Amino acid sequence: MIEHIKSSYKALLKVFKENAYSTQALFSEDMSNLSSRITLGVIEKNIYLEYILAQLVKKKPANNIYIILKIGTYMLLFLNKIPDYAIVNECVNFVKSIKKSELAGFVNAILNKVDRREFKLPKETDKDYLSVTYCKPQWFIDRMIKEFGEESTLRVLKDQNETFDLEHIRLDPRVDNEETLKKLTASGAVVRKTIVGGYVVKNNATVKQLFQKGNLTFQSPSSMVAVQGLNPTNGSNILDICSAPGGKSVYMAQLCPDSTIESCDLYEHRLKLVQFYSKRMKVTNIETKAMDATILNPDFVNKFDYILVDAPCTCFGTFIKHPDVFMQHDESSIDKLSEIQLSILQNAIQYLKVGIWFIQLALCSKKRMKRL
Ligand SMILES: C[S@@+](CC[C@H](N)C(=O)[O-])C[C@H]1O[C@@H](n2cnc3c(N)ncnc32)[C@H](O)[C@@H]1O
Repeated sequence: MIEHIKSSYKALLKVFKENAYSTQALFSEDMSNLSSRITLGVIEKNIYLEYILAQLVKKKPANNIYIILKIGTYMLLFLNKIPDYAIVNECVNFVKSIKKSELAGFVNAILNKVDRREFKLPKETDKDYLSVTYCKPQWFIDRMIKEFGEESTLRVLKDQNETFDLEHIRLDPRVDNEETLKKLTASGAVVRKTIVGGYVVKNNATVKQLFQKGNLTFQSPSSMVAVQGLNPTNGSNILDICSAPGGKSVYMAQLCPDSTIESCDLYEHRLKLVQFYSKRMKVTNIETKAMDATILNPDFVNKFDYILVDAPCTCFGTFIKHPDVFMQHDESSIDKLSEIQLSILQNAIQYLKVGIWFIQLALCSKKRMKRL
């Protein structure tokens, strides 16, 4: 088991120390199913684990020991199939293996306290009950309640504990998809067709195979609707100004095979994702360009018929699928990103050919939208 603890520890060091996304951290390590489960579990339950450890540890230890305590606590509380004594022993052995033998006794003592449940959880009437129980920052809970009310907030928080094993896919609009649909149906993947023209499916082996072959792709209904709302005409000049990883660019490229989509992004390495995506989906009418969209590009002025602005955002709205969003951004990011979104929109509007309405997909706050 020590190998699983080691891989999780290495991945979590990347997340907690280097601010890496969990997907990057999981990708870069030799992860077994168990280590992935531990890594994602610690990320998802971070607030809960810290709440418990704060009661048992007088002074917060160095980051690496704290991560081992979180791994041990998570395993003791959430992985019922592994005997508790084995979890404690292996965590202690791991501490010794990273040349921290002097802290082995400390880790042993704390994990035994966790095992004996020598901690309290907040009561329903406590202010931090929702934050700790659903592992979300207090500011986020307060803001959700203020904006959506207590009932909706609770519904969303409770929903996140459902297992989501279904995915939304779309097929290639350029071809007859009869064969693909037959295969999907025969494999039992199709749950239902959606109003945006995609399908809710079980992500089985057939889906994975057809994905690799570029016959289908995973795309959320909201992402599809953004492109359908823009409704670009085939043959027109199209700019996707913040395009990586390329979901919307590729969809537009397939809908408008006689157009060239100019797909830009701030980061060269993220544009590689657009190129991989295009290649997998057999799309050849996308040109990628690294560009900071907050700086006016004179070559683009008055050039495009359609512009998609999917500006950078906090991704807080995706917290169910990506529990690490709260490690990447905090409340102050909302205003900072709104400023960036506004300056991207102000530049983008100048890239539209004169006389064309500006259709935007903006993730701006309502306040910013009003200012526009
Ligand atoms: C919401 S994502 C775009 C998702 C994409 N439209 C899709 O459907 O796959 C926002 C993107 O904006 C990029 N970005 C962030 N700051 C930027 C800037 N100043 N200029 C251009 N792109 C930026 C990020 O790298 C990220 O890839």
